[in-house]
Amino acid sequence: MFTNDEKEAVYKVIAARRDVRSFLPDPVQDEAVYSILKAAHQAPSVGFMQPWNFILVTSEEVKDRLAWAADKERRALAIHYEDDSRSSAFMNLKIEGIKEAPLTICVTCDPTRGGSHVLGRNSIPETDRMSTACAIQNMWLASCAEGLAMGWVSFYKKADIRDILHIPPHIEPVALLSLGYTNDYPKKPILEAENWESRKELDSLIYTDRWEG
Ligand SMILES: Cc1cc2nc3c(=O)[nH]c(=O)nc-3n(C[C@H](O)[C@H](O)[C@H](O)COP(=O)(O)O)c2cc1C
Repeated sequence: MFTNDEKEAVYKVIAARRDVRSFLPDPVQDEAVYSILKAAHQAPSVGFMQPWNFILVTSEEVKDRLAWAADKERRALAIHYEDDSRSSAFMNLKIEGIKEAPLTICVTCDPTRGGSHVLGRNSIPETDRMSTACAIQNMWLASCAEGLAMGWVSFYKKADIRDILHIPPHIEPVALLSLGYTNDYPKKPILEAENWESRKELDSLIYTDRWEG
């Protein structure tokens, strides 16, 4: 079905994809954005409910307000890291990323899409957000393949994001994604490069026939 080169390309993108925090101001071409959104829309979803929407934000004023919401949350969280100045410095960088990147995409999840009996969602309601996360991962991989950088910001109060972007109360703002070009695409996860966390040994995570922890 796929040539060896095509197969290797998929694994190469999976390995190369990184969470990025610094962006150049250069705009992203509409075609690239559309390709990335198309990748998102091809993601799997529980009962094929396709619960996502994408709010494209290029207005400096709206981006500033989103950055404000994230900064407010960063300051609220800072008390947990009082002894660790690195942590709040990292989180701060991400907020700068929202302002720097020419495009922010808010990905939302509509839990009501498909009615009250979406196939498979009855047992595990959060499968709607899991589906949205699959769409976001597709966007991350597609961005990487397009030579674009993407950063995921998840620290904000949902109510703030709903207010700023006029999102109805029943819709979940799942992610704020900064998208743009960078001249600083990390070779390894930033948190690994900064000795914060390292990748766990895969073999230690694989169990056979029963939980082995
Ligand atoms: C659900 C989710 C939420 C995340 N939220 C944030 C965030 O709020 N701020 C941040 O700096 N990075 C955030 N990240 C990025 C992670 O820190 C990053 O994926 C991780 O350190 C591994 O690095 P890599 O993506 O480059 O492999 C998030 C990632 C995921 C999957």
